[in-house]
Amino acid sequence: MDQLLIAGGRPLRGEVRISGAKNATLPILCASLLSAEPLELGNVPDLKDVDTLVRLLQGMGVEASRDGRHLTLACPDLHTPMAPYDLVKTMRASILVLGPLLARCGEARVSLPGGCAIGERPVDLHIKGLEAMGARIAIEHGYIVAQAERLRGARIFLDTVTVTGTENLMMAATLADGVTQLENAAREPEVTDLAECLIAMGARIKGHGTDLITIEGVPRLHRAAHQVMPDRIESGTFLVAAAATQGDITLRETCPDALQAVLDKLQEANAIVDRDGTSLRIRMRGPNHGVSVRTAPHPAFPTDMQAQFMAMNCVAEGTTVITETIFENRFMHVQELRRLGANIEIEGNTAIIRGVRGLEGADVMATDLRASASLVIAGLIAQGETRIERIYHLDRGYEHIEAKLGGLGADIRRVAAPRAD
Ligand code: UD1
Repeated sequence: MDQLLIAGGRPLRGEVRISGAKNATLPILCASLLSAEPLELGNVPDLKDVDTLVRLLQGMGVEASRDGRHLTLACPDLHTPMAPYDLVKTMRASILVLGPLLARCGEARVSLPGGCAIGERPVDLHIKGLEAMGARIAIEHGYIVAQAERLRGARIFLDTVTVTGTENLMMAATLADGVTQLENAAREPEVTDLAECLIAMGARIKGHGTDLITIEGVPRLHRAAHQVMPDRIESGTFLVAAAATQGDITLRETCPDALQAVLDKLQEANAIVDRDGTSLRIRMRGPNHGVSVRTAPHPAFPTDMQAQFMAMNCVAEGTTVITETIFENRFMHVQELRRLGANIEIEGNTAIIRGVRGLEGADVMATDLRASASLVIAGLIAQGETRIERIYHLDRGYEHIEAKLGGLGADIRRVAAPRAD
């Protein structure tokens, strides 16, 4: 297993190109199941999760060919509408095949994702929504087994704002008989990107980007091309890394509009942010001011940026509070940050961070994707060497992270873990 070695204490400087968004790519890949005709995608990131999902789709009958950032998918013969446990357990986004499979071939067998490191993460709203559209669903031997001759449009109120739930139901509704309305829908930019891809495929969708999405079903979808949106979380992670190291960097090909809540908080942290089209430059006015954040569905502050802000707050002036409202167990990075000298207390879903003078390098362990990003930032801040283990979490969601940070002047290396024997 690989590890990252970081010699911290250097400010980040320079330019970095932002990759396509993981959280937009994964649902869009699943959308390829909805049509027999090809879907040509651009700006697809080179990530472990993308490879895993492509493998899952290939097992169902999808043909995939990749050339750099371009990926073409076609599914003329969907012969195996089934997602096995072995692949689903490594990546929860696999649940996004459920809606498309049911809509295209009237049946699906998808392993229940089960718990994961950041909390319980149920899929009851996906199931209830599909049942409202006429599907018969049973749980058998750990699998969701779903059937429907043809889904029919329905009015569905989502009790909780769910990103993957909204995406699953929106995809299913594109081929349903009649009109579906998703109320209290997720407004995340990645949901909008998926909607735009589906529209390019011939779907009739309105209201994406708001909390009421209306989908009028059509008999079939057709060939299309789509450019995946830039990754707002990768963007935010680099911005925080620059702010936390008193750096000065420019992001190219990013999506400033999708980053508003994060940019507001960075300005509060004492950063100057300049925007020029799809570029963003960040530099600091002076020392980091601590900023308190509360996670909530878009357009509020994203749960996927909480851990990175916590790392920055560890060495900022003052005491800050981070409240996590989306997931019940998303503070696993705290005990690792403490190993670097951070002063953090947890009370329920709240972390209280008292800024310290500096962090010191240490050996730490990555526990989930965004927690890993916070450890990288902490390692960049800390004096001395930080060794991060289990970085496969990071490889799931950050494209070539050590090359990109190295290009910004960080002293960061990937090494193979020494063998235990
Ligand atoms: C969530 C985040 C998303 C982030 C992703 C990975 C939100 C709204 N969603 O998306 O931004 O990229 O994690 O970190 O911030 N829920 C149910 N029943 C369901 C589905 C969800 O109760 O059927 C609950 C979940 O337990 C959670 C909340 O709804 O508390 C949001 O879940 P959801 O948006 O589905 O999670 P992800 O799609 O994984």
